[in-house]
Amino acid sequence: MSLTFYTGDFVMSKIKIKQNRTEFYETAVSMGFYGNEEASLFGKKDNVRKFWEDMVLKTYCRPFIEDFLNQHSKITILDLGCGSGEGIELLTHIPPSNPKEMVNKNFILLPIKIREYYGLDISPSMITQGRANYRGKNNFKFEYANLEEGLPPAILNHEPFNIYFSSYSALSHLTPDSLESLFRQIFSHAQKDSVFIFDVHGKFSPEWPVHWKVEKELLPYSMAYLYNKDIREKNKIEWFNICYWKPADLKMRIERAAKSVNREIEICYMHDRSIFVGRHMDTGLLSPLITQLRYQVNRLIDHGYRGEPKHLKLNLEYLEKYVPENSTFWNKLVTYKNSWNRVIYFLEALLNHKDTKISAFIESEEIEHMEDDFKFLAWLFRNSDRFPVADFWASVIGPQVAMILRNIEMSYSEAEGIGHGLMCGIKVMK
Ligand SMILES: C[S@@+](CC[C@H](N)C(=O)[O-])C[C@H]1O[C@@H](n2cnc3c(N)ncnc32)[C@H](O)[C@@H]1O
Repeated sequence: MSLTFYTGDFVMSKIKIKQNRTEFYETAVSMGFYGNEEASLFGKKDNVRKFWEDMVLKTYCRPFIEDFLNQHSKITILDLGCGSGEGIELLTHIPPSNPKEMVNKNFILLPIKIREYYGLDISPSMITQGRANYRGKNNFKFEYANLEEGLPPAILNHEPFNIYFSSYSALSHLTPDSLESLFRQIFSHAQKDSVFIFDVHGKFSPEWPVHWKVEKELLPYSMAYLYNKDIREKNKIEWFNICYWKPADLKMRIERAAKSVNREIEICYMHDRSIFVGRHMDTGLLSPLITQLRYQVNRLIDHGYRGEPKHLKLNLEYLEKYVPENSTFWNKLVTYKNSWNRVIYFLEALLNHKDTKISAFIESEEIEHMEDDFKFLAWLFRNSDRFPVADFWASVIGPQVAMILRNIEMSYSEAEGIGHGLMCGIKVMK
């Protein structure tokens, strides 16, 4: 199907929407994106994915897993839209919450503590790749399922799982009604104390302002960010429809689903992830502006590169005309933008050795709860010769600045749907 896509005054040229959703993933697997890749500046497992996005997911899963392991010796996991088993990697690489006491323990959940992992996906190539990645592990299963049609009989007849899991917006592929019906199946299948941890795409991410005012259930999305810019321009971009979620709509559907099957649940968190570092910030495919924000944060985190403050500064004016009337999310975007920019101005002052600016920043009332972060950065800078690293700016200051930016995002507790990912954690109470 080919259509011209108008949203407000932004016109996307003729785009082709793939009817067969798995097609892109078949190509992605064949190009090696779902094998083992090292973290770096670009690609599926870039630094932001590994040290920002994965870490935020892990931090939110951690209390649930620690709780389970206090009560059970082994756990069972159902992974919905599992890809090639990325969920296993995520869940088995969660660092302990208390770094001082757990010095001999790298991760809280070892593969040996997984009694059964069951991954479901619609893409045959993903299933094949997942089986290859975990060859020889008989309790790790990968099976075909189209979740649009609900859970397959093999799962419905299976005993309840401890963790129902889904990562990196696999469930955004479903229509809202199909997702609600999946919620109903999961809540009736689960047992008391089971948890359901998943994420979908947020409606109001600055990556896709062209979608902000469009009230349609499904809207175009592309994973062309996996290719570097040159290939992206040469190749035709593939689009498919997904659902972008507002937190209130998601909450309403979750609660309605639980009620309809008489389950008591608690939504433990809903959280915006990757507000300014989502993949499409740098593609400009769904926005009038291409930024270098993800690339620059990748550089900050990388021990071989420094960030470039001039490309890290945020100006959101270009987004104002896309904001729907009476929306509440814009204030939060602006607040985060202000905090983000303060960190970048401070980095700039440090890089340029502007001592008076540095002191003024630390003493300024505008920095609110950030004085400790600024003091710590200033302390690192003043003690730079004590660090036995080849490039102090690349190895020490850059990663520290990136983690401060990430932690500001994590400090916002109420989701507004302004992140690339809208994360949700649910516990079945009764
Ligand atoms: C962005 S990938 C995420 C993969 C993996 N969970 C991860 O964390 O990287 C989305 C996955 O959802 C799968 N998917 C899409 N639509 C689906 C459906 N209707 N039923 C089952 N899986 C689906 C895709 O094949 C793909 O593997």
